Amino acid sequence: MLCVSIFILIFVLKTQYLLIMGTPFIYGRIADESNFTNRKKEVELLKRNFSGLVNTIIISPRRWGKTSLVNRVAQQLLKEDRSIRICQVDIFNCRTEEEFYLAYATAVLKANHSAWDDFTATVRKYLGRLLPTVTFSDTAQTCELSFGLDFKENKMTFDEVLNLPQALSKDSGRKMIVCIDEFQNINEYDDPLAFQRKLRSHWQKHTDVCYCLYGSKRHMLLDIFHNYNMPFYKFGEILFLEKISKEDWIEFIGRKFSETGKEIREELCGLIADRMKNHPYYTQQLSQQVWFRTETVVSTEIVDEAFNDIVGQLSLLFANVIDTLTPRQINFLLAVVDGSTNFSSKEVLTKYQLGTSANIKNLKKATTEKDLIDILPGNRIVLQDPVFEYWLKHIYRIR
Ligand SMILES: Nc1ncnc2c1ncn2[C@@H]1O[C@H](COP(=O)(O)OP(=O)(O)OP(=O)(O)O)[C@@H](O)[C@H]1O
Ligand SMILES: [Mg+2]
Repeated sequence: MLCVSIFILIFVLKTQYLLIMGTPFIYGRIADESNFTNRKKEVELLKRNFSGLVNTIIISPRRWGKTSLVNRVAQQLLKEDRSIRICQVDIFNCRTEEEFYLAYATAVLKANHSAWDDFTATVRKYLGRLLPTVTFSDTAQTCELSFGLDFKENKMTFDEVLNLPQALSKDSGRKMIVCIDEFQNINEYDDPLAFQRKLRSHWQKHTDVCYCLYGSKRHMLLDIFHNYNMPFYKFGEILFLEKISKEDWIEFIGRKFSETGKEIREELCGLIADRMKNHPYYTQQLSQQVWFRTETVVSTEIVDEAFNDIVGQLSLLFANVIDTLTPRQINFLLAVVDGSTNFSSKEVLTKYQLGTSANIKNLKKATTEKDLIDILPGNRIVLQDPVFEYWLKHIYRIR
């Protein structure tokens, strides 16, 4: 009877833990607080750069943790240094320059004000020429900014918006860090080069502001920041964010399991990280799936089953990706998956039916632009998605 009661109690407590806390692993959301592991080196570097107003560019493939990292640094710095203001703006949904200015101005103003009255007064003071309107939503506790002048017809320069961080910093005596997520999206605007020139010419005059610009399209960002002929050449320090190391994952996964009353051997924590090649998003996803399936103790079978389920869930998506590729592009990916290095060699060209060596450049370009491969320093080519890599190798090819 006692045993049954204890069993029921444990079950109830566990269910309550789930309801209150959710699972101990998260993916697809910003990893913050106890969900954020390690990155000590990068956190220190960014803090140093932000405090010293050094412009910084962060590049990594998708889902490696750029947003989580910048968010972490922002939270820490705001606590430690009251003389700093941090503005974070995501321009993923900004399809035009005008949308950029609106998102940008709103984020800069919000970083400087907590009260609505101040917000409106500042809008009038600094952006008055643009005939701004501020609309409040009581229910959502948000405010929306819009400009009265039509951008396209009036060809406004929007200098005030670009200079807003500097003007506010100067007047308040507080440094400002402006973080722009998905920065490569500016390449989609009508005249990206002119826009880059405009941004650079304003931002380089700002003495009390630093800019942290980040995104996932390595080739586009390198073209913006590492191309001698481009306006943003040598604008700041470039940080290529790496994955989180296997050792850190082992510590993180082990701790999360033990904190929630489940047991996992170190070796199996390592297996989870290995299976996902230390990819931050996927390692968290697999950990969560393993956690869900585990009553008390994790086994190799549970890890395998959870991994296969994730592969199964994503199969349809991968099949759709394949449908968008030419036979040569697919063969090129298979050559990458097999670890080929010398793609222009006769042996690789023949084995994977890639045509002549002149095709290789185009195949690399096309698969890079589709975010399928990443070309690492030393010209090493890898698939970006470890689950897609497994699927190509073990499921697609066998079919
Ligand atoms: N420091 C970290 N510790 C633990 N998990 C992390 C960490 N950073 C990222 N992750 C995991 O990776 C996922 C993606 O993180 P994040 O959204 O920050 O990446 P991103 O590079 O900004 O992605 P995207 O390119 O899609 O914008 C998170 O939801 C989380 O599961
Ligand atoms: Mg992000």
